[in-house]
Amino acid sequence: MRLATVEATPNIAVVKYWGKRDEELMLPNNGSLSFTMDETLKTRTTLAFSPEFKEDEAWINGEKLDEKALKKVIKALDAVREAAGTSEKAKLVSINGFPTAAGMASSASGMAALACAANEVLGLGLDSKGLSILARRGSGSACRSVLGGFVEWRRGEKEDGSDSYAIQVTDENHWPEIRNVIAVVDHGEKKVSSRAGMKQTIETSPLYSARQQYLPKVIEDVKAAVLAKDFNKFGELVMRESNDLHSVMLDTWPPILYLNDVSKEIIYAVHEYNENAGKIVAAYTFDAGPNAHVYTTEDQVKGIKEMLSKIKGIQKTVVCKVGAGPKKLSDGHLIAEDGSVKKHHYDAEKNGIVVE
Ligand code: PMV
Repeated sequence: MRLATVEATPNIAVVKYWGKRDEELMLPNNGSLSFTMDETLKTRTTLAFSPEFKEDEAWINGEKLDEKALKKVIKALDAVREAAGTSEKAKLVSINGFPTAAGMASSASGMAALACAANEVLGLGLDSKGLSILARRGSGSACRSVLGGFVEWRRGEKEDGSDSYAIQVTDENHWPEIRNVIAVVDHGEKKVSSRAGMKQTIETSPLYSARQQYLPKVIEDVKAAVLAKDFNKFGELVMRESNDLHSVMLDTWPPILYLNDVSKEIIYAVHEYNENAGKIVAAYTFDAGPNAHVYTTEDQVKGIKEMLSKIKGIQKTVVCKVGAGPKKLSDGHLIAEDGSVKKHHYDAEKNGIVVE
């Protein structure tokens, strides 16, 4: 048996991926940009391969996956096996090092960790481009989590997806003051999965094609604002982009509404906060759910938390910095040498993953 353990973190897009040009290869219709989060929200994954394993098995947050949930993992493992030219079955054990109630989907960090662990355990020798392509096959947005800092996922043109991968625009030290204040509104499962939602949007939204036309310029403008560390410019572009995404969602038939009344309160409160500041110092962005990610700078975090604390319906706030990307661990494996799953859990008090 061979194994490797990797920790990866989620990324939160400031220009969003919404829509695939190839469902199987997970190729996007548009490029996107994100910041990779720091270890506040890490996911640890141990991946083992052995000729002795009879079938693929996976445990996430202590629960063995049932057939339906396992399917997604097997799809990602098949991409890994294809890259390695092996048919060995795998055991995957993954745990989030943050409370489930953080309202964060962990597919990006989970799939990025899987790709990086596979690279290590199977000796694939992939660079960040190869890792990104592999992670993309598991979950589109995961391809951005193989890198730290500020990351661009290039749309690419080729049908085989070989030019659709993530590149680092700036590392985590370029703009270290950036913070993401996550306002957790709801940590339940979303009503419409992003996979189904984006497909529905492409098929039915007349506004979607307009969005596709102006997104390349938005990407260039956001990149320029980040490079210049111009928060005022950055913030306006990010909020407008989030609103644009949620407009095409509403324009979808039947409509998809991920924002709820609390999300709307947050939008109004952020605009009021900026108005009082006389410039843009806070910028909300929403993914396929009602939780707000308020990008801001370190000096504003206290004020923003105070502002959010007045909004009824926010369950908690979590503050993240920009992170450095995945990390290989030499101990803390979640699988023992005999192939059994080690006892492990997330300890909120210690804010860490405990392996017995
Ligand atoms: O990769 P998925 O299926 O988790 O889709 C991500 C979609 C958004 O989060 C809404 C946008 C993005 O670019 O992350």
